[in-house]
Amino acid sequence: MTGRLSEPLRVRLPVSEELDVVLARTCGRELALQQGFREAATGAIATAISEVARNIIVHAGTGEIVLEVVEGRGRRELVVLARDRGPGIPDLHRAMEDGYSTAGGLGLGLSSARRLMDEFGVVSTVGKGTMVTMKKWAA
Ligand SMILES: Nc1ncnc2c1ncn2[C@@H]1O[C@H](COP(=O)(O)OP(=O)(O)OP(=O)(O)O)[C@@H](O)[C@H]1O
Ligand SMILES: [Mg+2]
Repeated sequence: MTGRLSEPLRVRLPVSEELDVVLARTCGRELALQQGFREAATGAIATAISEVARNIIVHAGTGEIVLEVVEGRGRRELVVLARDRGPGIPDLHRAMEDGYSTAGGLGLGLSSARRLMDEFGVVSTVGKGTMVTMKKWAA
């Protein structure tokens, strides 16, 4: 881990097509490695980013991923926000279950992302959109 952050690190990535998923994943991976995250944690971050970015395309059409590195309570965190102004999620509880999909998918994206990260939260309003917030703590 390098020294204190001299300035906040924040990257905003629009998401509207498959290539954007790859870019967001790659960017998250590079940021994690640069911040000294271990290989396993870096892979977890990259996979979780892919899942929420793909959800934006499949379920909402367009949106954005924001990647941030923040210092909180003496530790460094990589924060991933995925937000869209899509249809929202009517039943969040079910959406978080393994195997629940409204789009003929495996229904594993959100539940996997939650398992891969240290903190995970979803705020969604029907007709307004969805925001997923995920954090990984640096070891
Ligand atoms: N950004 C979003 N906007 C609206 N609905 C969403 C969004 N993300 C997830 N959902 C809802 O939550 C459900 C579960 O999402 P999840 O990612 O776990 O599975 P999936 O996308 O259907 O399949 P996959 O396993 O391929 O990811 C989706 O089927 C969809 O109904
Ligand atoms: Mg999904």
